[in-house]
Amino acid sequence: MDLSIEGTLFHKGGFEHGCLGIKDGKIHAIKKTLKAEQHIDVGHQLILPAGIDLHVHFRDPGFPHKEDFSTGSLAAAFGGISCVMDMPNTQPPTTSISSIQEKVHSAQTRSYVDFGIYAAITNQNIGRIATLSPLCSGFKIYLGSSTQATVLSPQHLRAAFFESQRSQKLILIHAEDEPCLKRHHAVERNLVDHLRCRPSACEETALHDVLRNAQGLSPPIHICHLSSCEGVEVLRHRPSHISVGVTPHHLLFDVNTLTVEHTWYKVNPPIRSSFDREALWSAAQHHIIDVLESDHAPHTREEKQVEFDHAPSGVPGVETMYPLFLALVKKERLPLGTLLSLLCERPAQLLHLPKGTLEVGNDADIIVVDMNHTENITAERLHSKCGWTPFEGYPAIFPSLVFIRGEKLIQDHQMLMKPGYGTCVGV
Ligand code: NCD
Ligand code: ZN
Repeated sequence: MDLSIEGTLFHKGGFEHGCLGIKDGKIHAIKKTLKAEQHIDVGHQLILPAGIDLHVHFRDPGFPHKEDFSTGSLAAAFGGISCVMDMPNTQPPTTSISSIQEKVHSAQTRSYVDFGIYAAITNQNIGRIATLSPLCSGFKIYLGSSTQATVLSPQHLRAAFFESQRSQKLILIHAEDEPCLKRHHAVERNLVDHLRCRPSACEETALHDVLRNAQGLSPPIHICHLSSCEGVEVLRHRPSHISVGVTPHHLLFDVNTLTVEHTWYKVNPPIRSSFDREALWSAAQHHIIDVLESDHAPHTREEKQVEFDHAPSGVPGVETMYPLFLALVKKERLPLGTLLSLLCERPAQLLHLPKGTLEVGNDADIIVVDMNHTENITAERLHSKCGWTPFEGYPAIFPSLVFIRGEKLIQDHQMLMKPGYGTCVGV
């Protein structure tokens, strides 16, 4: 055995004091006591699975002033995330064999954490899904416009679902209906205008489109960032091959309490009412939502500090997601088991990754947290290039140690590994 870590483990749905034995990057044994070449006793701290973020925008290639794979993955690691899945709205967009291969190759030299790459399905490449499928970890479909996004016409949805059923690759959907967004288009002066221009009816229409086109098929579909009360109702009794994600910002913000002129909170789908927010909380607590995903979408302060209508949509969040929700677990807003299902177990299942739970045979992707050590988030301590966070001042519990495949990446607020440690997964 290479390493054993002793402490309070979250294992099979409960806590127990024990040792986690690691060999060749995998969890090799879980026992009361274990002997290994190296032994770490973490005392009263918790040993938990690292998180998996199946929705990040690392802007690489194309927008290195906002983020790149090394800064984005550094932020992920410090936030206890061992694996990220990157979205295709880069420049060039990830829509072809060469753009996927180039992104994978470049991320392999820069990423601190494990990663996968999604390809976009567009009206132009719809016929090439089968060719792209073995190269990528999944597909993204935009049904409505967003930052740098290429929208797919709904008449292609059925073909896309048919292909993903064959390949079993996850199709992730940005569910806002383009004709609906166009109908509501107007000048936006604040967050309430942004919400009026992207009403929940657009989410509802897109979701009905997805459900209708998936009928009689069973492709693995993931609805990204559910944002409305109506959306929760449409998906409440969905078939089991359709999973649903929610973001920290949709759970923690609403237009009733935000300063509405603030461009920081301009994001798609929009931050909605306290009513919507409560519906999302309830859905997350009652297992109607499968996954917590950051939709980490960094834009610089300067890009956000313009007239509301011209500000880009998107907020950063990969580093703060797990720590924010550990602090909420401490406040008893949700059980730890529910959080670990949302952040670790379900994303691993959906992506077929040997990660996400502390089980023998899985990758030793582990974080150690001191639940008595709550800190307030400040942008200065974060690692994204964008240099700001919408969660400034929020209480959070950051990991004290982070391991990926048995290697210690983070200790004493220091990154111990070199960029390029991360490997491509899910292909
Ligand atoms: C995303 C971005 O900036 O890349 N913005 C956002 O508001 N979520 C684009 C997207 O995926 O919608
Ligand atoms: Zn996104």
